[in-house]
Amino acid sequence: MPQHVNEAVAESPAAAAPPGTARLVLNGKELELPVVMGTEGEVAIDISQLRGQSGAITLDPAYGNTGACESAITFIDGEEGILRYRGYPIEQIAGQARFTEVSYLLIYGRLPNARELEEFEARLTYHSMLHEDMKKFFEGFPSSAHPMAMLGSMVASLSSYYPDGAKNTDLDLNIARLLAKAPTIAAYSYKKNIGQPFIYPSNDLSYCSNFLHMMFAVPAEPYPTRPVVDRALNLLLILHADHEQNCSTSTVRMVGSSQANLFASISAGICALWGPLHGGANQAVIEMLERIRDDGGHYQKYVDMAKDKSSGFKLMGFGHRVYKNFDPRAKILKQTADDVLAELGVRDPLLDIAKALEEVALHDEFFVSRKLYPNVDFYSGIIYRAMGIPTNMFTVMFALGRLPGWIAHWKEMQDDPKTRINRPRQIYTGETERPFVPLEKR
Ligand code: CMC
Repeated sequence: MPQHVNEAVAESPAAAAPPGTARLVLNGKELELPVVMGTEGEVAIDISQLRGQSGAITLDPAYGNTGACESAITFIDGEEGILRYRGYPIEQIAGQARFTEVSYLLIYGRLPNARELEEFEARLTYHSMLHEDMKKFFEGFPSSAHPMAMLGSMVASLSSYYPDGAKNTDLDLNIARLLAKAPTIAAYSYKKNIGQPFIYPSNDLSYCSNFLHMMFAVPAEPYPTRPVVDRALNLLLILHADHEQNCSTSTVRMVGSSQANLFASISAGICALWGPLHGGANQAVIEMLERIRDDGGHYQKYVDMAKDKSSGFKLMGFGHRVYKNFDPRAKILKQTADDVLAELGVRDPLLDIAKALEEVALHDEFFVSRKLYPNVDFYSGIIYRAMGIPTNMFTVMFALGRLPGWIAHWKEMQDDPKTRINRPRQIYTGETERPFVPLEKR
């Protein structure tokens, strides 16, 4: 747990020994603000009493300097390119773990032993079917509906079948249901889009194989499992499994802070993920690469456009609020993209364009000076394409990966007795008081 540091230590480097208190002088009045240090030496000024003591609030649009919670789930050091789930480096987890194992780790705080993992996976298998009535919801969507719209709605709908919030709710069971049913919902959304019959889950398949089976099997013929695709999916889900505070996870916490149920809170996170600046970036990357390909492959033109602010064009899959050196997930995925495409015998010209674009951008002063590097979404889309996943499903794939992270944060917040409903403040910049003008006088 983080330490609350109160004794004064003069002029010490933050990571080694933090200052005891911060001093703020406002309108001639000096305030002492406690300093909090995390287990990795991250330092924060605790301003929770600031308004009460001074009448002032802090202003931090987009929350770039604001810690909204203490969390023991994921550690990121953006400068060093470090990502750890519950202390375990992503590079070690990615090569060795199963997604189900990582889900258990994130949600319950420790690696499961063999029996615990077996039981957990059995639960995820057993609860993967949807209530038959839910199939009717899919009938109501147009076949052109975006699968993210269906995923968000269906996850919110789960709350009507498995209510929680009552004292006797089995929360672990609802967590298992959500993790188990989300791949089924995702696959049904795809089947709805292409007009094929829904394929029921199969209890003899692993989590990843079962999802691929529901996506790609048809009743007319057997669908063989493909171990390369299975492994790639497992890796992609793990790499997306958590990323501490971000637009969607903080949304889950924000909604959950009102004691909204698990399904409603996660549904809100799914909607937050949808935008092209967040989880929607993987779809936007492929659309950008296709545009470059169709334009004769002239990637330099697009690098130049991205540098010209008036163009409104950004290099999708580049830049990150936190990583300012490299995104460790992108590093793993770049290698994986090569391996998966080679193993599947897929030759994708978009991969060549992506590599060329990366090469140019990484040596361009504009991108170098702003520390803009490829992020996780830059290569994930190319792997999904090779796996046969259509572009409009990419963000759904991100959501399936992020589920355990969202659940872990929701649960951590619910379990914390200090949790209060989230309620930011604002600085009002509108009109001051003025008399109402009746309609006939306007
Ligand atoms: N292409 C061109 N210029 C960029 C890009 C980009 N992709 N990203 C940032 N910049 C510029 C930006 O214009 C700004 O320039 P200046 O300092 O001259 O005003 C500077 O770099 C800093 O950018 P910012 O917008 O202040 O950075 P941010 O932390 O607010 O935004 C970001 C981070 C990821 C939203 C942004 O880099 C971006 O829009 N990237 C493209 C979308 C994308 O790939 N998103 C996926 C993020 S990773 C997965 C996830 O979180 O879901």
